[in-house]
Order: sequence, then C-alpha cells, then structure tokens
Amino acid sequence: MSSSTHILMCPPDHYGIHYEINPWMSTERQTDHGEAVKQWQKLRELLVTTGATIDEVPPVEGLPDLVFTANAAVIFQRQAVLARFKHSQRQGEESHFRRCLESHGLEVIETPGDFSFEGAGDALFCGETLFAGYRMRSDATGQQEIGALLGVRVLPLELVDPYYYHLDTCFCPLSPNEAIYFPGAFDEYGRRVLEEHVPHLIPVEEIEARRFACNAVVVGKTVVTNHGCPCLHADLQDRGYAPVETPLDEFVKAGGSAKCLTLRLDGEEATDWKN
Ligand code: ARG
Repeated sequence: MSSSTHILMCPPDHYGIHYEINPWMSTERQTDHGEAVKQWQKLRELLVTTGATIDEVPPVEGLPDLVFTANAAVIFQRQAVLARFKHSQRQGEESHFRRCLESHGLEVIETPGDFSFEGAGDALFCGETLFAGYRMRSDATGQQEIGALLGVRVLPLELVDPYYYHLDTCFCPLSPNEAIYFPGAFDEYGRRVLEEHVPHLIPVEEIEARRFACNAVVVGKTVVTNHGCPCLHADLQDRGYAPVETPLDEFVKAGGSAKCLTLRLDGEEATDWKN
C-alpha cells in the first residue's frame, strides 16, 4: 500500500526442524527444503505486489528459526525492543537481529531485567495499546516494563493452549479497532479484555486457527494468510479487506506461518501512531 512499508524477512537457506520447542515441531517430520524455499519466495513476491519493500536479514547456519523475523523485536516508532529468547536454541539469533535492526537506523533497546520476551510474536499494537501474550515464551512482568519504557499501555493476555504459544498465532490486529482472534487460545479473562478493548473482533474456528488463520500479514487492506482458511477469508471480504492465501505448510511444521516470517520495520498496520 504505502511506499514506506518495510518488511524484514530472512531467506530459508538454513531452515529446518533441528529441535523441538513447541508442539508443532517434530524432528521426525522434516521440512522439504525446495518446497520451503518456493513457499517463502511466493510469500515474498506477494508482499512486493502490495507495494512493500522487503529487507533481509542474512541467514545463518545453525539458526534454523531465524526465518521467523517476527520474533526479533517489537517496533515502536524508531525504537526496537530486542527479543530475549526463552529457549537456548534461539538465543543465538539475538545478536544477528540486533545488528540488522541497527543497520536499518532503529534504536535498539534491550529487554529490561532478565525476562524472556519474543518480540512481535508476543506483543502487538492495536490502536495505542500493546497487547501482550505471556506464559509460554514471554514474561508478563517484563512486558509491563517494556510498556513503561515506551510509554504505552500494555494489556496482558495469558496464552492457555500450547499450540498457540505466541500471541501472533491467535490474535491479529487489522486496524486500530479491528482484529482477528481465536477465542480458544485465551482464558475467560483474556477474552473479556479483548472484547472490551477491540471494538470489532473477528473470531476464527479452531479448524482454521490450526491452519494459522490468525497469523496474517496485513498491508493496507491486504491480508495474507496460509491457504485453507476459507471462512476467515469470506469474513474479511465482507468487511472490506482483500484476503490472499498462499501455501506455507513447510513453515507450519515449525509452528509458524505468514506473519511469523515477517516483521514490519515501519510498525504494524494497526498501530495508531502510523495512521
Ligand atoms: N519454531 C519457532 C519457535 O518455536 C517458530 C516461531 C514462530 N514465530 C512466531 N512469531 N509465532 O520459536
């Protein structure tokens, strides 16, 4: 849409299932490298057609999950709060993401304390509020401290289903007052918080949540998801969005999909400081 849309991605040269840190991953169910490359390139091309500029972080051998750039940091204006990964298998990514974010002119801020925090995987702006998923990967106290540091309100949401271990697997802001979500990933309190603070919520059924329907990349009115989410796409169309599907099954094997493979360096579409 806008010519200033900048999306960070990482080519899947060294992508594979080398360990198991979420219920989707099994080292016995390997990825098909050629297919993963094809799927990643198709996603990249699709995003280019929306007018986005794609910036790349160079792939690194031994860091297969570096492709999931959403986890690098949370971006607020020109600041990037760097991830501190929960699992040792991903901690080696931090220095690569730091260097890359700095090279894009962002002010990189360390996550306060020794809390784990997995970037835009667990912290998403909807309007002026930062919605923060905690329990599986990110620490609730740390997220409050990040909010204080950035001067923004944080609403914590406990993630209760291990299959939806990052907030971006079950919640996707579309605009400052509209979001997609999978109700089953939250407890009653979390659902109430979402209902009270997001005026228009689009629920997805479990069958499509499992296809990572909520893990969408939003550029203007275009919403890109994995294939196999027909009900969500119909709902999005009714609400004036342009849903697009693309196969991402090779990345689902690692517990990720469209959104996880991207990070908006200019800030996500639904943040109100962009609008
Ligand atoms: N295998 C990766 C992990 O478990 C997948 C990360 C997906 N990223 C995301 N933003 N949901 O950490």
